[in-house]
Formats: sequence, structure tokens, C-alpha cells
Amino acid sequence: MAEHKPWDGRFAEKTDAMVEAFTSSIQVDRHLYAHDIAGSIAHARTLAEAGVIAQEEADSLEKGLRQVKAEIETGEFKYNDSLEDIHMHIESRLSQILGPVASKLHTGRSRNDQVALDCRLYLRDETRKIIAMLQELRQVLVDTAQAHLDFFVPGYTHLQRAQPVLLSHHLMAYYEMFTRDCERFKDALFRINVMPLGSAALAGTTFPLDRDFTASLLGFEGVTQNSMDAVSDRDFAMEFLADASICMVHFSRFSEELILWSSSEFAFLNMPDAFATGSSIMPQKKNPDVPELVRGKTGRVFGSLITMLTIMKSLPMAYNRDMQEDKPPLFDAVDTIKACVAMFARMIPKLEFDRKRMFDACNKGFLNATDMADYLVEKGVPFREAHGIVGRAVAYALDRGRELQEISLNDLRKFSDKLDKDIYEALTVEHVVDRRRTAGGTASANVIAAIGRAHTQLHAESSGD
Ligand code: ARG
Repeated sequence: MAEHKPWDGRFAEKTDAMVEAFTSSIQVDRHLYAHDIAGSIAHARTLAEAGVIAQEEADSLEKGLRQVKAEIETGEFKYNDSLEDIHMHIESRLSQILGPVASKLHTGRSRNDQVALDCRLYLRDETRKIIAMLQELRQVLVDTAQAHLDFFVPGYTHLQRAQPVLLSHHLMAYYEMFTRDCERFKDALFRINVMPLGSAALAGTTFPLDRDFTASLLGFEGVTQNSMDAVSDRDFAMEFLADASICMVHFSRFSEELILWSSSEFAFLNMPDAFATGSSIMPQKKNPDVPELVRGKTGRVFGSLITMLTIMKSLPMAYNRDMQEDKPPLFDAVDTIKACVAMFARMIPKLEFDRKRMFDACNKGFLNATDMADYLVEKGVPFREAHGIVGRAVAYALDRGRELQEISLNDLRKFSDKLDKDIYEALTVEHVVDRRRTAGGTASANVIAAIGRAHTQLHAESSGD
């Protein structure tokens, strides 16, 4: 049964049923109900404050809106495609509850500024939640780094063994990435948290609405400065999605490493059974599905960003219905990134790293070759020359299936007489790691200091900066 539409005064014909279904967004934007109602209550109060409606009218609008909210939350509320979107659903139910006074609510407002407001309120809430969840994840990373300070692991470039590092150093690299993600989301909040109501359809309104008053009721930092921009701006959503995409790059890289490390080829870590799944045909299998899915879901978030950019790229000002397509990608990206952050925060403490396997890997593949060259530099050999000497020593060792530390001093001295007995100490994994003391390097003193700084940073963030 078609409902009366708030806008149907000039229409002589009923909307085609297929058009109704095609234009309806209620199944998606119904998730904005709480934000829509909060915005409407603030608008009603602003109308009363401006003397456009009586205070008692604002009070009954507020009461009615709260009732609608309760009906939605208890599941009594009826949805209907002919009412298009959440804004019209709420308004229409409000007039059933309140009668004529309900029709005053939309004074000086359009769905164009209303939906912009709802999206901003929604994204503000979700961005704050994501920041808090990322803070938790960073804490988990710091704790895991702290608990593995005596684990060494090969560091790679080009996926070839390069130099050994502390596992904690490797984990703290992800701490840095997720810290930058938090900063980016916080920065995005400055542009999300701006209030568009009062812009009405596109040109502003004839009613003397105090927009700063509305902003303060809803906790906004400020108001939008141009009514046309306000109703057609989705930069804040694009920016959020760009930030979310970068964050997902980090999750995807981390996932890739966890997948590689849990393979039999690496076997640096064991995925606990509770975080893995089996194969329906191969009885021996234990698959790292969680990081695989996170890596896969990265594609969805990138897709959302591209969808949003493409929706917006040719729109003339101001509002165009194309913009209704902004919500599915935005909501999906928000849900996806939240699920990934939560999953990682739960999984990381459960990872079982194989200390011996990682340490043995550090001793195979000449990860200490740079250190032999550095040793020679300290004995006065210019670096390029030292590089050549060690390169030849590596070739010699390779031919014999040995490592540098397995070549006798006599044989080593064929490459340079600057090499002495103490070279063997310089080539140990512990020594190689501990000598890298430049700021940001992997020496354990540095990593311990980095963990300390992270604790302080997280503490400052949780006490509100
Ligand atoms: N459902 C619409 C959206 O999400 C609300 C705004 C509709 N405005 C309009 N003039 N038809 O964009």
C-alpha cells in the first residue's frame, strides 16, 4: 500500500512501482536512524530558539521523535519502499503520532542538508570508534613486542634474507603504521565534524536559524561556510575512505607476512587452531584464513574509495541523487575495517612464534655479510673495497656450502689480512643486531626505548592527549 509522500503535492500520477523500488534507499540508510533523530531534535530546538515554532511544539516534536526511535529499536517500526528513505519514514511516522505539529519539523530544512548532517554524525561516531579500536590494537602490538624481546628473526628486502632484526622491532614497525592511521583518522575528524544544517536545499533558508546553536547542540566544532558546498560535499567521506584504504594496506601487508610465516617453508609461527580452518578434502591442512580474509577484504575497502570518488567526480553543484549511492560503500568500509581491527587485536596475542626456527634462519644466508664489511671499515678499509672483499668471501663460502662464520680464520685471511679472531664475535646474530644503534635501529636498547615511548604515547592518548 503506497503511503502519502511528503513531496507529492504537485504530482498527479502515482510513482511507478519499479521506480519506487529503484529509488528507495531505506534498506541502507535505515542504519542512520539514530543520527537522523538526533539531528531532527536539534533542528526542532533551533526552530524554537529562532521563534519559528513555539517551545511547546519543539518539546512535542522531541517527544514524538524519541517515541519513533524507541519503535525502531524495539522492531515495531514498519518500513515501506514508497517512503524512499529514513528521513521520510521518520517524518511520516511522526505525523501519525503527533498530527499537524509534525509537519512543522521540516521548516527551513531539506533532505539535502539533513542527509549531509546524518552522514557526518554517523562518520564522526564511527571514526572515533575506529581510532579507539586501533589504539587497543597498538597496545596489543606493544605488549607482544615486549614479550618477545629475545626473539631474533631474519629481516628481508626483496623477500631475500638481508639482516637479522628483533622480532619486537618487526612488530613495532606495524605499531608505527597503525599510529599514523590513528593520526590520519583524527585529522579527518576535523573535516567530518562540521555542521551543514541551515544550508537547506542549496541556497540557505529564509528562517533566522542560529546555526552555531545547532552545532553546539550536536557537539560540532563549527558550521559549513557555503550552503552549496555543504549539501554537495562528500570530501569527508572520500577522505575517510582514503584513510581507511591506507590502513587496510597495513593490514594486508601484515596478513601477507603472517600467511608466509605460517607456511611450512618459513614455519616461523604457528596459527593456533582456534584461528585457523581446515580443508574439506585434505585432512592434513590448517589454513590461515583470518589473515587471508583480511587481505581479501582490503579489496572491498579500496573498492569503496574508488566507488565514492567515481560517484562524485562529475557532479555539478549542488545535490544530485547520485549521492545516495555514497552510503553502501561507506557503511561497508566502516564495517569491514572495524571487523579487521577487532580480529587482529584478538589474534596477535595468540600467535605462537618459533624462536629456534627464526634464530636458525638468521644464521643461514649471510645475514652478517654487511657486518664483516663494517668490521673492515673500522680497520681502515674503505667501504666499497670492504664490500668487494666480503663479496668474494661470500662466493667462496657459497661454493663450499658454508656460512661466513663457518670459514676458518686462515681461509678468511686470504681475502683480507685485516680480519682477526674477533671477527667471529662480530658475526654472531646477537652482535649484528645489537650494533645497530642509530635512532630507529634494531638494537635491543633502541627497541626497548621504542616500546617505552609507545607506552607513554598510548597512555597520553587514552587520557585524552
Ligand atoms: N536518500 C537521499 C540520499 O541519501 C536523501 C536526500 C534526497 N534528496 C532529494 N532531494 N531527493 O541522498
